[in-house]
Amino acid sequence: MAKPIVTSLPEGMTVPEHIGIIMDGNGRWAKKRGMPRKIGHREGAKNFRTITRYAKALGVKYVTYYAFSTENWKRPKDEVDAIMDLFEKYLDEVRDFIEENIRVRFIGDRSMLSETLQRKMKSVEEDSLHFDSMTLVLAINYGGRNDICHSVKNIVRLALDGKITEQDVTEALIEQNLYTEDIPAADLIIRPSGEQRLSNFLIWQSAYAEFYYTNILWPDFKGKDLEDAIIAFNDRNRRYGGI
Ligand code: FPP
Repeated sequence: MAKPIVTSLPEGMTVPEHIGIIMDGNGRWAKKRGMPRKIGHREGAKNFRTITRYAKALGVKYVTYYAFSTENWKRPKDEVDAIMDLFEKYLDEVRDFIEENIRVRFIGDRSMLSETLQRKMKSVEEDSLHFDSMTLVLAINYGGRNDICHSVKNIVRLALDGKITEQDVTEALIEQNLYTEDIPAADLIIRPSGEQRLSNFLIWQSAYAEFYYTNILWPDFKGKDLEDAIIAFNDRNRRYGGI
């Protein structure tokens, strides 16, 4: 059983319901230590577990990690293979989360992933289906534009089958057909490592999200940094287009 986590978020803070995290800076973390990039990914993967537990302790209901983008296939084969190996390893370990009542879901195009990986993804999703303390969402072979394409394709199929007409195409319908389906929109997107862009992560779902950037590299990002992001989120004045 994991050790209880002691959090230190000041009283009265609103905890975002859905936080998206871009796990950036693994390569630089390793380079700084004269180590191969894949060691940075290994440390990044370890940290993903730590931060997931911390987020749960803070009361976050959904946390989505950008683990592999539709563009990441352009990386050298040995780096892609190392990341895929980490997914397989961590999918076995993610089973520990089940004991902690955490539901696990995946978003992205699975068809390009190995059969073993796809099988493990399906089984962990099925086994954690009814857990409700928090939902952990892993974006693997995910791209926001691809997500919108995926939704449009589903909708075209409904139209071709005569189930909907043009009038039925609403924002809600597009949303229900995204990979994220019933997952609420992101409230806060965190990107460590100094880059300040969304890089095709949750583009539809973060239309009204607050963004938090920090220079800390992902393997060094701690629970305290997550709290700092939440404190910054509380300082923002979300108006959703109103005044
Ligand atoms: C971005 O850092 C990181 C990635 C593209 C891969 C993230 C994947 C993992 C941490 C592996 C395991 C994840 C899970 C959920 C089990 P970068 O390589 O772009 O870093 P750099 O900008 O410093 O080069």
